[in-house]
Amino acid sequence: MITQLAQWKELEKEAQEAKRMSLRQEFAKDPNRYQTLSVSLDGEVILDFSRQLVTSRTMRLLYALAEARHLKEKIQQMFQGRKINVTENRAVLHVALRNLGDEAIEVDGQDVMPQVRAVLTQIENFARRIHQGEWRGVTGRLIRNIVAVGIGGSYLGPEFVAEANRAYAKPGMKLCFVANVDGADFVQKTEGLDPEETLFVIISKTFTTTETMMNAKTARDWMISRLRHHPEAVKKHFVAVSTNLAAVAEFGIDPANSFGFWDWVGGRFSVSSAVGGVPLSLYLGYENFHSLLAGEYLIDRHFLQAPFPKNIPVIMGLLGIWNNNFLGYNCRALLPYSQALWRFATHIQQLDMESNGKRVDVEGNPVPVTTGPIIFGEPGTNGQHSFYQLLHQGQVVPADFIGFIRPQYQVGKKSENSVDHHQELMANFFAQPDALAFGKTEEELRQEEVPEFLIPHKTFPGNRPSTLLLFPELTPKTTGMLLAIYEHRTAVEGFIWGIDSFDQWGVELGKVLAKNIRARMIDYNRDPTRKVAEFNPATNALLQIFLDGNRR
Ligand code: F6P
Repeated sequence: MITQLAQWKELEKEAQEAKRMSLRQEFAKDPNRYQTLSVSLDGEVILDFSRQLVTSRTMRLLYALAEARHLKEKIQQMFQGRKINVTENRAVLHVALRNLGDEAIEVDGQDVMPQVRAVLTQIENFARRIHQGEWRGVTGRLIRNIVAVGIGGSYLGPEFVAEANRAYAKPGMKLCFVANVDGADFVQKTEGLDPEETLFVIISKTFTTTETMMNAKTARDWMISRLRHHPEAVKKHFVAVSTNLAAVAEFGIDPANSFGFWDWVGGRFSVSSAVGGVPLSLYLGYENFHSLLAGEYLIDRHFLQAPFPKNIPVIMGLLGIWNNNFLGYNCRALLPYSQALWRFATHIQQLDMESNGKRVDVEGNPVPVTTGPIIFGEPGTNGQHSFYQLLHQGQVVPADFIGFIRPQYQVGKKSENSVDHHQELMANFFAQPDALAFGKTEEELRQEEVPEFLIPHKTFPGNRPSTLLLFPELTPKTTGMLLAIYEHRTAVEGFIWGIDSFDQWGVELGKVLAKNIRARMIDYNRDPTRKVAEFNPATNALLQIFLDGNRR
């Protein structure tokens, strides 16, 4: 059991010290603290974890824990295509999707790289045909609107990347996403779209997900009726991305217009497959999608090769374990100082919480410690005017701050007596981690002659851990780096706990129960006089009220 390991027990002792640690004192004591507790990846990104409640000794103990949990071997097994998703008996090979090197990656003795490259070429050609007007709508109009229909991993990653790189969008191209089965999503996203210039991309790994299939059918009806039943309405205005190409064909989408991927790509890890590749190449251009892959590949090599003390995803994963299991802080705030990253936390919520929200290890034994943290976040500075109050004076929530040296848009002017927008933004990026770490003492407040009754209210306890990631600029490449860092960090935490981070059985029960309710709704539609009595009393009562009220 993980908690019985000598390395775990050492860390428990270390945590007693850490709980008494003063970050003010640690910084005062050691002028090299930043140098010791930071990593720079050749100027591509800097990780500063000097405001975490750790010392170099803590880090050594964490690396020892990683060794005891065979972290290196587990990372290698992932890259080698071993079936580390044990409950689904699948390899976990999102790294093959952005393997820009020439090494083979095998699953069941077969190199998967030729298929990966073939789909990339198919995406590149398709995007070129759309952009050059070789592929047009049924009336000969250029395609300008892409509506991606998908949910969960078939939606959140592509949306985050698209929003992050809106500054690089192809002029004239628009991309929107329909995910929720709430009809409002479809209606609002398609409002004002010219069907003759619109292409739906139906994205679903299984091509059976209820929400996506319902939205896809609604999209098909919408297109067919608006194009006055043109015989090529579906052929010219629908493409699909799936591992289930038979179901795609049955839906009516030409197999020639389908983009495949494989069971060794998990939904939440699928942005680098055709799931992201098709909508993102149409919106941003294939070159930009390729740059995303290049950024991911850079981090993949780093993750595989760098020793633990220089390995960004490993350090971030171990700090996650430290904060969660040893210090008892089981939330994590993601705070990008970039409006373009406004969908980042939402994507990482699924990536991390669906991966690591588990209660048993790979062998089915209960994990004796808390697993995945609760993730939330918003871009700064917006979050500062919302939930940061709690971060400063309420519960302790370890935070990741993400910032960029240069902005995507130059707005305003720097001068001798003023800052531009980006400098203002970044002033806050630098201020907040220090406020969390160093706080404000009663003595300081007294020196400032704050009235005595306000002193408890204005005191900031400090010692609130945070990590800073600083990139040169938000581009497709750095988006890829950021994405891969968080994917690998998630895997690191799962490997340490010994859980299967790549399955998601926890989403099943609700789906089954919804199926029963759906069946009862259909019964009611046929015969509204029969009272609901099949479920528990609370559900029976409320469902009856819903059905009667919803009848009109
Ligand atoms: O319900 C969870 C889930 O299975 C996710 O893991 C997945 O990303 C999402 O649904 C969508 O699945 P699909 O791509 O098969 O439509």
